[in-house]
Amino acid sequence: MNAETFRGDVAIVTGAASGIGAATAKMFAALGAKVILTDIDQVRGAQVATEIGEAARFVAHDVSDGCDWKAVITVAEDSFGPVSILVNNAGVAPAPTPLQELNEADYRRVIEINQLSCFLGMKAAAPSMIARGGGAIVNVSSVAGLKAERGAIAYTASKFAVTGMTKVAALDLARDKIRVNSVHPGLVDTPMVRPEGGDAAFAPILQFASGLPIPRPGMPDEIANVIVFLASESASFLTGGSYAADGGWTV
Ligand SMILES: NC(=O)c1ccc[n+]([C@@H]2O[C@H](COP(=O)([O-])OP(=O)(O)OC[C@H]3O[C@@H](n4cnc5c(N)ncnc54)[C@H](O)[C@@H]3O)[C@@H](O)[C@H]2O)c1
Repeated sequence: MNAETFRGDVAIVTGAASGIGAATAKMFAALGAKVILTDIDQVRGAQVATEIGEAARFVAHDVSDGCDWKAVITVAEDSFGPVSILVNNAGVAPAPTPLQELNEADYRRVIEINQLSCFLGMKAAAPSMIARGGGAIVNVSSVAGLKAERGAIAYTASKFAVTGMTKVAALDLARDKIRVNSVHPGLVDTPMVRPEGGDAAFAPILQFASGLPIPRPGMPDEIANVIVFLASESASFLTGGSYAADGGWTV
């Protein structure tokens, strides 16, 4: 891949203010795409877009809000033209809570941000992609979309749903030349897994990672590489797939 790989492409990356989303937005821009970065964190989102420069625009966006999605597509089309790539990356991972202690409102919020968002995003972006003659969608699920983790019922439900929704969308959109795949990160060193309290609080997470086949956390670029590949023409025969990027955790 080089600076021409995504020339002419318009990519939307949600949750692009931080972690995997920020790394992905920067990588798309470096490879020639125009990028719409979205996030609820307006300060950091705008900062990342400024770092990228002319090829980027930031849009304040709550991914669980259907009206917000319409505005994002409008900004993308008005700024750069029809959308060709969508990365549904924004997400939340609440602290582990046993099933009997989790309340309904907290459960619903995780489902809305991690799961409903993917439905709203794919539905909103598809007409733009169809008008352009096709496109690619990458949904960021998790190892929690492939295997269960204790104390994570809402997160696991939301990420298994993303795995399944990806496959249905791949079937529904195949004839429109839109490919849809999911990526399943393992433990990745982003603010999501770095508890407040600095290195001491991160130590148990590093300890857990040291027991994995690749005995360390992944870095955001190592997930962005997979997302960008799935969005590229190099992945032209891939749709409906679930791709673990987890250092062997689920092996
Ligand atoms: N870091 C990991 O170990 C890991 C593992 C598996 C899956 N993932 C998944 O990767 C994705 C990115 O996570 P990350 O690790 O980069 O986390 P992160 O916390 O660094 O970034 C997530 C971003 O999503 C944004 N966001 C949260 N709620 C939002 C909303 N309602 N609307 C718009 N934006 C919102 C946040 O502001 C933040 O910028 C998530 O879907 C996460 O579930 C991460």
